[in-house]
Amino acid sequence: MTDDFQDLSEHTPVMQQYLRIKAEYPDMLLLYRMGDFYELFFEDAKKASRLLDIALTARGRSGGQAIPMAGVPFHAVETYLAKLVRQGESVVICEQVGDPATSKGPVDRKVSRIITPGTLTDEALLEQRQDNLVAAVHAVERLIGIATLDLSSGRFTVSEVENQGLLHSELERLRPAELLISEENFLNLPKIPTRKQPSWYFELPTARRLLTQQFGTRDLAGFGCEHLTVAIGAAGCLLQYAKDTQRTQLPHLQGLHWERREDSIFMDVATRRNLELDSRIIGQREHTLINILDQCATPMGSRLLRRWLHRPLRDTRVLRTRQQCVGILLEKTCIESIFQQLRGIGDIERILARIALKSARPRDLGQLRTALGLLPDLRQQLLRLDNPHIRALAQQIGHFPEMYALLNRAIVTTPPVLTRDGGVIATGYDTELDELRSLSENATKYLLELENREKSRTGIANLKVGYNKIHGFYIELSRVHADKVPADYQRRQTLKGVERYITAELKNFEDKILSARERALSREKYLYDQLLDKLLESLKLLQASSAALAELDVLNNFAERADTLKYYPPEFTEKEFIDIVEGRHPVVEAVQDIPFIPNDLKFDSNIRMLLITGANMSGKSSFMRQIALIILLAHIGSFVPAQQAIIGPIDGIFTRIGASDDLAGGRSTFMVEMTETANILHNATRNSLVLMDEVGRGTSTFDGLSLAWACAEQLAKIGAYTLFATHYFELTRLPDICQSIANVHLEAIEQDDKLIFMHTVKNGPASQSYGLQVALLAGVPKNVVNQARLRLQQLEAQRLKMTPQQVELTLPVVSATSPVISALQKIVPDNLTPKQALEILYQLKSLVDK
Ligand SMILES: Nc1ncnc2c1ncn2[C@@H]1O[C@H](COP(=O)(O)OP(=O)(O)OP(=O)(O)O)[C@@H](O)[C@H]1O
Ligand SMILES: [Mg+2]
Repeated sequence: MTDDFQDLSEHTPVMQQYLRIKAEYPDMLLLYRMGDFYELFFEDAKKASRLLDIALTARGRSGGQAIPMAGVPFHAVETYLAKLVRQGESVVICEQVGDPATSKGPVDRKVSRIITPGTLTDEALLEQRQDNLVAAVHAVERLIGIATLDLSSGRFTVSEVENQGLLHSELERLRPAELLISEENFLNLPKIPTRKQPSWYFELPTARRLLTQQFGTRDLAGFGCEHLTVAIGAAGCLLQYAKDTQRTQLPHLQGLHWERREDSIFMDVATRRNLELDSRIIGQREHTLINILDQCATPMGSRLLRRWLHRPLRDTRVLRTRQQCVGILLEKTCIESIFQQLRGIGDIERILARIALKSARPRDLGQLRTALGLLPDLRQQLLRLDNPHIRALAQQIGHFPEMYALLNRAIVTTPPVLTRDGGVIATGYDTELDELRSLSENATKYLLELENREKSRTGIANLKVGYNKIHGFYIELSRVHADKVPADYQRRQTLKGVERYITAELKNFEDKILSARERALSREKYLYDQLLDKLLESLKLLQASSAALAELDVLNNFAERADTLKYYPPEFTEKEFIDIVEGRHPVVEAVQDIPFIPNDLKFDSNIRMLLITGANMSGKSSFMRQIALIILLAHIGSFVPAQQAIIGPIDGIFTRIGASDDLAGGRSTFMVEMTETANILHNATRNSLVLMDEVGRGTSTFDGLSLAWACAEQLAKIGAYTLFATHYFELTRLPDICQSIANVHLEAIEQDDKLIFMHTVKNGPASQSYGLQVALLAGVPKNVVNQARLRLQQLEAQRLKMTPQQVELTLPVVSATSPVISALQKIVPDNLTPKQALEILYQLKSLVDK
């Protein structure tokens, strides 16, 4: 403490003030208001100059050294903030709150806002069609609580999971922009910007008190969250953080929503990526499912669709309700007119959040007015549709005639961007404002009169009256006329060739007019705040309305997509059954020019696994993914790309697809493959859909083959609905051993030395793999392919000499007393880092090799 004090005392008073504030925010950039600029100092200045590409200068000396400084003009700060936030920085804005004219020493300054990547609400800083979440996690022993908050809508959710794998899956689903963890965090977390918070923020009693205070309730029972523990701790921390950063009331946070894991179809991290729902494995956004599926009219609809897609539901009643809505919208051909109305309504969800945070801009209110004006027509149209859910949505959308009238009276037709310069409140709304305004408007007339009067009094023709910010009003004339100036003129300023004067009359007028302008501005500010308060009275109803509009948007979008893309309604059954007739891959069919060949699939209580063989490029992977995507689409309430789809209960979708290295995460291709496979074998149930695409190909043939064989057998034991694509022909013998497995293949035919892919799924195994022909197609030089053909003949000749039993015997056999088994028994997988796991794998391998 004394050290700090001595340190500080070497600095100038302004710097002392700066350093005191900065000490509270060591890991954020502090933007310090000085006159017309926001300045950054020391390390902050260096960093900002690099990130914003602005000049790094120095500001005097303090504490014996030049202070590095960088600055941005205050009126352009939003652009710079956007740049900083996009680069993952958090920014503290510190304003002057005292009056420079009256303060002794440095003007009083106060932190007015803190902007962090997870707590953005400003339109300019947000991605329109994506949620922007801040999350907190909190673990006690094995139970992990997750809370997320979308400050730009007020959505506040909690969930609890039992292990780190599930935590990772949830974080992959939610993709928070910022993650809060306790100082004592022991969880292993994915790469998300994290911020440590004091551990008492997460304590249950503190959290509970804070939350019930916020919602104005006695307990959390009304939200179904009373029994949750770690999740409530996380939520409490999150709310505290939101308060700390926003420094204002958060009336739009009206409750907690508990997301029960059992309510949704489980997808692990790999599956979310492999199915390329909203981003490709290689990172692009085009050619993803969301790209094909999202034609929503409003950004809030798009965001809701994304949430649905990442959390497919298991409750078939909800799904059927959605389907019926889609059906009726299609039938009544009102898709386009609803779309146009919704488009006019826009993103009122985020506007409402800004109203709640008192940061709404004039144009936000203008847009809200437009939206409210459109509601009655939309509502009427919906009420005409004969569907109970759509009618319920129409009721929830409501109409707000009084608020619409109020906004019409209060706000000018085309409001300016900012409130700063006034001109927001319409004439006729407030008599006091009108009077103040007319004073300053009459000013122009009065000044013209004065100018003419002075011209004739002095006989100087080029005399004129002007105004500038620093010197105020003046009478200006060229220097050559200076000798004709009357005695009551006082010189104010001398410029090149001209002189500027002031008279008592002009000074008097100036005082009156400037104060009128200032008073008009502050009156407008007052009226604007009052208007926001008035709107806040109906916040809850407006939020409900915007939620219903977003849902309507997604349902209408489903109808439009179904119509355009020829999707049909799936059916749900309680039986163990998946029957898909003429199914298509929604993305492949949309992006390729050639027609897509539909295929069928049938699983029932007897057949649980299809072993899929066929040439490279024949369509195995596409077929598998299309099944997963059809099932996923069915579980968000959408129609699906299949003539018919009958689907029994599904609890999870698991995939092991393709080779993806995770070198940065310290895992090799094969390690990733095996981790994902292990995860599937541990978690899949009889009601899960499992896609296994060429498991085992990351290692030597025999290792790979034996692993693939064992995995298939295990999955057959579990009884999961499994699609198993492989190039290991040996596996096609599995159906002989296990009745629940069947062979199918993708047809390819050879014609005049050319390979033609039919892309049709046929019963039975493929007859040939055509690997060499595909290599030739891909442009591998002919001599290399010929060499390969020779080698293949030799290999096949060798293998023919072996009996099938010999092939099987060459597979490693692990006995129950093996050292490998006892080593495995000692492992607690959840406690291992990926690196340790890899080391253990090598140790196990060496044990087997011995
Ligand atoms: N049913 C289909 N109709 C039309 N084209 C298809 C169909 N299925 C696949 N294709 C086309 O064939 C290409 C290859 O398909 P896919 O990747 O599924 O083959 P694969 O059998 O998995 O190949 P590999 O064994 O090399 O992994 C796709 O990119 C797509 O363009
Ligand atoms: Mg493939």
